[in-house]
Amino acid sequence: MYDSELTKKTQDLTNELIKMNSGSGIPLARIHDLREVLRFHEYRYYILSEPLIADMEYDQLYKALEKLEKENPGAVRPDSPTQRVAKGLTKEFPTVQHLVPMLSLDNSYNADDLLDFDRKVRELSGLDQVDYCVEPKFDGASISLIYEKDLFARGATRGDGVEGDEISTNIRQIRTIPLSAEFSRYGLQQVEIRGEVLINKKQFKKFNEQLLSQGEDPKANPRNMAAGTLRLKDPAEVSRRNLEAFVYHISYYTMTEGAGIPELLTTHSGSLQLLWELGFRSPEQEKKVFPGIEDVIRYVQEFESGRDDLPYEIDGMVIKVNAIPLQEKLGMTSHHPRWAIAYKFKARQASSRLLNVEFQVGRTGAVTPVAKLEPVAVGGVTVSSISVHNEEYIREKDLRIGDAVLIERAGDVIPQIVKSLTELRNGTERPIVFPQHCPVCNSKLFKEEEEAVWRCTNIECPAQVVERIIHFVSKDAMDIRGFGEANVRKFYEMGLLKDIPSVYTLDFDKLTGLEGFGQKSIDNLRKAIEGSRKQPLHRLIYALGIRFVGETTAKTLAHAVNHLLDFREFSLEQLQQLEDVGPKVGGSIFQFFSNPDNIQMLAELEKAGLPFRNEKKDLSGTGSLAGQTFLFTGTLPTLKRSEAEAMAEEMGGQILSGVSAKLNYLVVGEDAGSKLEKAKKINTVRIITEEEFLQLLGKK
Ligand code: IVH
Repeated sequence: MYDSELTKKTQDLTNELIKMNSGSGIPLARIHDLREVLRFHEYRYYILSEPLIADMEYDQLYKALEKLEKENPGAVRPDSPTQRVAKGLTKEFPTVQHLVPMLSLDNSYNADDLLDFDRKVRELSGLDQVDYCVEPKFDGASISLIYEKDLFARGATRGDGVEGDEISTNIRQIRTIPLSAEFSRYGLQQVEIRGEVLINKKQFKKFNEQLLSQGEDPKANPRNMAAGTLRLKDPAEVSRRNLEAFVYHISYYTMTEGAGIPELLTTHSGSLQLLWELGFRSPEQEKKVFPGIEDVIRYVQEFESGRDDLPYEIDGMVIKVNAIPLQEKLGMTSHHPRWAIAYKFKARQASSRLLNVEFQVGRTGAVTPVAKLEPVAVGGVTVSSISVHNEEYIREKDLRIGDAVLIERAGDVIPQIVKSLTELRNGTERPIVFPQHCPVCNSKLFKEEEEAVWRCTNIECPAQVVERIIHFVSKDAMDIRGFGEANVRKFYEMGLLKDIPSVYTLDFDKLTGLEGFGQKSIDNLRKAIEGSRKQPLHRLIYALGIRFVGETTAKTLAHAVNHLLDFREFSLEQLQQLEDVGPKVGGSIFQFFSNPDNIQMLAELEKAGLPFRNEKKDLSGTGSLAGQTFLFTGTLPTLKRSEAEAMAEEMGGQILSGVSAKLNYLVVGEDAGSKLEKAKKINTVRIITEEEFLQLLGKK
């Protein structure tokens, strides 16, 4: 079915839903359409990264399907988009046999190795020149998938290559893996596919932060996190971690009677195309076929230099003989195929020596041990210090001062100590002793039960005060440029800053003559401080550094009140009614607003003219445009853009910064450019003129 037909169907279904708001819902006869439409939008979103509808619309359609299936259990199909959701915990992962053993690949590290590989392939095949298909070597956890009669039937880990663990329920949580695919279109009946499960760099960072905030150990790299996630017993948690998968090999298939082998399956690049056409994420766009090894060498080297720009980790490239009959002729050794080789990129691991551990006190008083290392280059940067998180982590990794340690740095991910090389010890290594007193203010450290972190609870501890100010002025908080970490420390030591409110009473005269502080930087700093008085309330809330309150929670909080100090009246229960606020976050907010010192600080900040009121609260959610999003482009005939934006906001509308599926209205004027072009491709965006906009506001 064509995209345009599916888009049309989406609109019909959405309209029906709107009409039926009063009750009944979509008729059962449309259940097939509903599933088809949902699958199509999952494909647009997860495989192509080009969504055509807003998340909310998807959710509405999804809920409609859920309702229909609940009312008609007989109509549920195993490949329905609702069937990814699993209830309860997995008890065990039974051992299963792969249809074909999962071999690993031989490795190469430089051009000479690849020339060798090519020479052997040519010798064995008796050919002068061989076509190679080259694709990324995904750095994740390998899996095997079986489809039977077009339905996903089983997913397994690699295990020892012959047998692995059956993890079908967890595989169903990966939205880039289709629950059904029309293999029958090619006469294929049973198919076994190989692939790699990944976690992208952004998600990796996010989940490591979460693990740390729960007092758990972070994972050393995305590969470990992907592998660990596949073995979680709770499929809901697997789903939350947004795993992704690439598939790159068809290892086995049977045909329906009478069908001939499809042309696409006679080459490796063809099989990647076949998988792509069936809705899988294969390296269809990244793959390249070359007539000989020289071009291959150029391509792998070129790919290596762009490695850090990819959203996920790759650790090399894989070079495969493209013709499948030739692959079969070449066969395999006991360990790996003779028709493929991995080209490994430069290692991101290096070894160094742990010289010492220093203890740093953070903004919340948490004491973090930081390993000081002999400087070593890893993946293009020099590393000389690495956080080792907490006492438990040090104990588990058995780290000692003087140890040789293995370090890994993956892309833009923070470096980690993978392990200490215990076999190299000579007996002079010393254990790491955790302090009992704060290294800065010397007050006794405390550790809450079930927490991994020791804390300095002296709220006046200079280390904490400085860190709180640094956070307050930082880019995502009040964004006071010209301060920076180093200046905050310097000013604090000089007595020019003593707490957060003192930012607004800074004596600029005392800055004149300071090294590196000309009149220009003083003026800039003054302007930046001035500008921060106009920041929206949610930034101020985030800047206060309340434990567990990140940017998202800060926005939720800002929407919940008319005035920041209203939170003094909130009970713990009321706080927990806010989105994403549970007992832990709620408790921390409650504590913050119950502390008289904090209230005193807030009073000083209000006096300094900071934004305590939520100006828009009374409007948003009530105006006639509530919930609608707008973007203006081109020159409007009568209104200035800022005027038009203010008018939309006044009626409860929201202004977006770019065209996306979240946009409801694009208001176009003369010379509208790329935004208009982009909006035309998303058929849920309504493109209107200024006049129509004014009509919408009821002004015409
Ligand atoms: S081909 C017989 N292609 O690397 C086919 N493997 O050391 C063998 N891997 O176990 C695999 N990306 O887990 C192949 N594009 C790719 C790959 C890839 C990652 C992994 C796979 C394999 C390991 C080989």
